[in-house]
Amino acid sequence: MFTVLFRTALADFQSALLWADDQGKNMRQEKIAFVTGATGLLGNNLVRLLLAEGYRVKALARSAQKAREQFGGLVDDRLELVLGDLAGVEGFAPALQGCEVLFHTAAYFRESYKGGRHLAALYKTNVEGTQALLNEAYAAGIRRMVHISSIAVLGRNSAGLTDETMVLAREMAPDDYYRSKIETDEVVFAFLDSHPDMHISLVLPGWMHGPGDLGPTSAGQFVQDYLQRKIPGVADAAFSVVDARDVARVALASSRTGERGERYLAAGHPVSMARLLQVMEAVTGVPAPRRKLPRAMLYAIAFLQEAYARLTGRSVLLSLATVNNMANDYGRRFSAEKIRREFDLGFRPMEETLADEVMWTRQRTTRG
Ligand SMILES: NC(=O)c1ccc[n+]([C@@H]2O[C@H](COP(=O)([O-])OP(=O)(O)OC[C@H]3O[C@@H](n4cnc5c(N)ncnc54)[C@H](OP(=O)(O)O)[C@@H]3O)[C@@H](O)[C@H]2O)c1
Repeated sequence: MFTVLFRTALADFQSALLWADDQGKNMRQEKIAFVTGATGLLGNNLVRLLLAEGYRVKALARSAQKAREQFGGLVDDRLELVLGDLAGVEGFAPALQGCEVLFHTAAYFRESYKGGRHLAALYKTNVEGTQALLNEAYAAGIRRMVHISSIAVLGRNSAGLTDETMVLAREMAPDDYYRSKIETDEVVFAFLDSHPDMHISLVLPGWMHGPGDLGPTSAGQFVQDYLQRKIPGVADAAFSVVDARDVARVALASSRTGERGERYLAAGHPVSMARLLQVMEAVTGVPAPRRKLPRAMLYAIAFLQEAYARLTGRSVLLSLATVNNMANDYGRRFSAEKIRREFDLGFRPMEETLADEVMWTRQRTTRG
């Protein structure tokens, strides 16, 4: 009698285990996300968030070495590395098969603020690369996508907050990167017009900061320069600083409940350069520069640096494009109303973002 009961209980237990295993597999099979730009500042934080949320992730990277550097410590059999380049989307297109959602974070971006003009590369990667990706993703059966746009596509509301409706005409773009992002959005909207069953929403980050900025982007470069006391002074500039991890959350929410063809601003906190330097001083213990830098002096520094960079091939500390953007972005404040209302999301304090970014940078410097 005891043996029969024991066998029945064991059989029940085994079938419960099988059932749980099946459920686990089903759940896993349901959620496969493809992330472009996975080695980037936003991309790596998005990959980590998706894994934490139970997704399987196919992470597009151009370099296996960089992907190892970015994700080396992250042991997770749900993370699959896909090697490829937006210049040849057909090369990695087979990996798009079976994915439920595509997050397109890759772009030619940080290089365009390191001096010189980059029109051809911006157009090729951002505009043409996105078009090719859309075609291949659709052919692979993907019907849901989040495209990472930028505050660069928006104009200014001089009477108040800039919101998602204030889109700039491409002719009004203050620099080549901004124009490429506007044109890329146009490609996305044209695709939506011709593919009624495709669902794409757009997320518009401000100046992203946070850990994992291997590039580095202008944000990571700023932190490195600050730590090495290379920031020459305080410019009359203002930014909208956002944590890449908060942008990742907006992207995820947008993939789940965002509306088709809608833009979602994730611009973060408005902050003057003087205030940003104060926070950096507090989180690093390194004294901030106090000298005031008039805008004309910034242009002069950028001009000289660009000339030096052309001669030596080295990248610049301050590019003309960066100074132009400082002038253009000065005083722009962005609404967070839509992501609050639709996703119940906001932004962590800037102090936390910068403290984590500084810690990551210091750890990396110590390791490297
Ligand atoms: N950072 C900001 O302040 C900011 C603000 C607004 C909008 N955005 C947008 O946010 C997105 C993410 O930017 P991010 O800050 O994460 O920049 P990032 O750190 O420079 O990351 C860009 C990613 O795109 C990849 N990539 C570039 N060219 C590629 C190509 N031809 N093929 C495949 N992958 C390519 C890069 O690969 P590698 O790692 O190999 O270079 C990198 O993984 C971009 O769309 C950018 O325009 C950024």
